[in-house]
Amino acid sequence: MKARTKTPAGAVLCALAAGLIFLSAAAVLAADPIATLRGAEISDVPPAPEMAPQATPKFRAARNYPEQPPTIPHKIRGYRIDLNSNKCMTCHSRTAVEQSQAPMVSVTHFMDRDGQILGSVTPRRYFCTQCHVPQLDVRPLVGSTFVDVDTAIQEGE
Ligand code: HEC
Ligand code: HEC
Repeated sequence: MKARTKTPAGAVLCALAAGLIFLSAAAVLAADPIATLRGAEISDVPPAPEMAPQATPKFRAARNYPEQPPTIPHKIRGYRIDLNSNKCMTCHSRTAVEQSQAPMVSVTHFMDRDGQILGSVTPRRYFCTQCHVPQLDVRPLVGSTFVDVDTAIQEGE
């Protein structure tokens, strides 16, 4: 009997606590500038911002860590990658680079999951844009505190 009367009281307390947590979470969200990036009420549908031009840098960007897929420095609009064809490989495959003067896909693109080097690009790396992306010429909406691996190692020492 005692336990029975205790349970509802406990439940009420729990609900109160949950309510408080919810309220403070909402307060934190409201203070977060990311919530205002949309620049409109949640019920409004503002016009989409204009697409920024794609960046086509002349020089390679530094990679932030050794396994970072390099970003794509050229346009790729209309480049198909499907079961029957892979437009990227018409320039980046081992045999195409003499003609295209594009950098060849590196040896990791030929490795299966056991590290065995295959004769052609591994299925795991067939869909190039899963990892490689072009960049747009835009000002970042929010700052980033990312530091590259050398800095991270120095800071850890
Ligand atoms: C018409 C030939 C051609 C096609 C097709 C092509 N590329 Fe390229 N790609 C190049 C050339 C040439 C470069 C060297 C940089 C430059 O000239 O822009 C390059 C550079 C790159 C780089 C930068 C490599 C580095 O080390 O910095 C990546 C990544 C890349 N391409 C990915 C792709 C992907 C993914 C596709 C398909 C969606 C693709 N490319 C299709 C010619 C091509
Ligand atoms: C699963 C992720 C992944 C996929 C899919 C992938 N790549 Fe990569 N790519 C990478 C990574 C990571 C690197 C850098 C390290 C390395 O070489 O593995 C890279 C490097 C490259 C480079 C630079 C090579 C060099 O020696 O500097 C080119 C060019 C490239 N990829 C093109 C392609 C093309 C074309 C495709 C599609 C056929 C493709 N990649 C698919 C992850 C990927």
